[in-house]
Amino acid sequence: MSRTIPDIPSEPVHPKNWRPHPAKKMLMTPLMATVGAMMAFLTVVFMVVILPTTTFEPAPSDNWRPLNDLEMEGRNVFLANGCIYCHSGFTRPQDAYASQYYVYGRVSEPGDYEGDGETPNLFGTIRTGPDLSQSGGFHPDDWHYAHYTNARYTTPFSIMPSFSFLTPDEITALIAFTQSRGGKLADLRDAHQATMKMIEIASGDVAASGENGDRSDGYPAASAVKNMMLIERGYWFADNPLPVTQQNLVRGREVFQERCVGCHGSQGDGNGPAGFYMNPSPPGFDVADDQQHGSDTSPGAYYWRILRGVPGSAMENFGTRLSVDDIWKVVLFLKTIPNGGLTAEVPTPDMYIRWEGYPGLYDWANCFFPESMQPQIGDLWASAPANIGDVPGIVGEGEMNPVYAVTLWEINNNARPCGTAGFEQTTLPDILQEANGRSDGFALQGTDQTPFIPASMQHSDTLPPSLLPQVWDQTNPLAAPDSGNR
Ligand code: HEC
Ligand code: HEC
Repeated sequence: MSRTIPDIPSEPVHPKNWRPHPAKKMLMTPLMATVGAMMAFLTVVFMVVILPTTTFEPAPSDNWRPLNDLEMEGRNVFLANGCIYCHSGFTRPQDAYASQYYVYGRVSEPGDYEGDGETPNLFGTIRTGPDLSQSGGFHPDDWHYAHYTNARYTTPFSIMPSFSFLTPDEITALIAFTQSRGGKLADLRDAHQATMKMIEIASGDVAASGENGDRSDGYPAASAVKNMMLIERGYWFADNPLPVTQQNLVRGREVFQERCVGCHGSQGDGNGPAGFYMNPSPPGFDVADDQQHGSDTSPGAYYWRILRGVPGSAMENFGTRLSVDDIWKVVLFLKTIPNGGLTAEVPTPDMYIRWEGYPGLYDWANCFFPESMQPQIGDLWASAPANIGDVPGIVGEGEMNPVYAVTLWEINNNARPCGTAGFEQTTLPDILQEANGRSDGFALQGTDQTPFIPASMQHSDTLPPSLLPQVWDQTNPLAAPDSGNR
């Protein structure tokens, strides 16, 4: 028995109307390659571009707010001038505690990038300069005026180009944009800067008018009181922990020349080129009497203000850029300036002026120290007792910041806070109690912290001409932007 093997057709059988498949045509022809490549490419585009943009719509973060018109203009100036080539606009986790905004560390979230003001986003990829996503409120406006005119005015070794060719309107817009970086938290910082600037200037005016001037009546001036209240009290009369050696002084001078001369002047007289833009202006360090007796010129007081900066003024915090050692060394050096520390070939220990304070300062300070620690006249505190400095650092909502309270109280009462005729023994708790009960515009802590200084204390037109009107026009930085660009 044999089976019949059917004939194998020489060509495969195809359904009707299908053209026979030519076996040899499964070759990688140019057309095949192109179609395949397009399919692979479109799949990637779909997954990476189309899917995310159509399905990922994060809600605005709690910190987000729209940009107003001026800030949008500033954004255009930012784009047009290539700022993005050096400055990124998002904080990565590893940046949050490492950058100079460490005090305001905040990792960027998708919800921070909503609306026209963030589209297209300004992430950038290059960090030649610092990331700017949290830069709002870090410096006050006057610092930015100087810095945008010429970055080396404020930062002598900066490699950021000068933008002095921008018009004043463009610079104003650019500053508004810079101050908006960081959303609502930046607005709060900005409000604090604005409050402190007004208090700075108001307290400086009282001193300038000869009332309660520094030591003229034996007590610290309102401006010095403001400075003292900003400092941890353990540092008020702290001595320099480093010895006065030539080596330390030479390093201190180096730091001063690298970082400080743009504002405080190459002669240490406060006449650096950036000073022109600033209110309050940078002080000089060239008066021997001030270095020896000034209310707020002890080594500890200097140290603290270099470490943390002076809010409301252009004095920046150098805590992330200078080592503790370098700060104490520059503090040593400052006290040689009246005796030629800057002009001599090298500063020498015999130029050093020891700080002594004066009796009225200690009387004043006694109001703010627990009794057991009342400082003795002439004492320099090499190390502060552990429980000193109990001014509350964080103020509850609706409460008065003690720095504002004491300074405004001093300005308002134009007198010493304690121990003088006509005033009963007034202490910090007394002042706070009075301040917290007031309703006439003393600055209260909280999100609707609007009015800053009572009208009676506000400025007239007798202000120094260097005052930048823009600073004062910001009456309420927390108000909703006039037009929302979403
Ligand atoms: C060539 C790079 C470069 C360019 C371009 C540049 N910057 Fe800078 N920027 C820097 C560097 C470096 C620093 C840090 C030193 C300093 O403070 O000047 C800096 C600092 C800053 C700061 C201060 C940051 C801080 O908190 O201290 C701001 C704000 C700023 N730049 C904004 C701008 C703007 C706005 C533009 C465009 C108009 C711009 N930068 C263009 C390099 C650059
Ligand atoms: C961008 C400008 C600027 C730079 C840079 C700057 N300062 Fe200042 N500094 C100021 C201003 C403005 C004040 C006034 C603050 C006030 O009104 O309380 C000040 C105040 C001070 C004070 C308090 C002095 C006093 O008697 O009130 C010290 C100390 C000081 N600066 C040291 C330094 C040192 C050291 C450096 C460099 C590491 C430096 N500053 C860099 C602007 C600057």
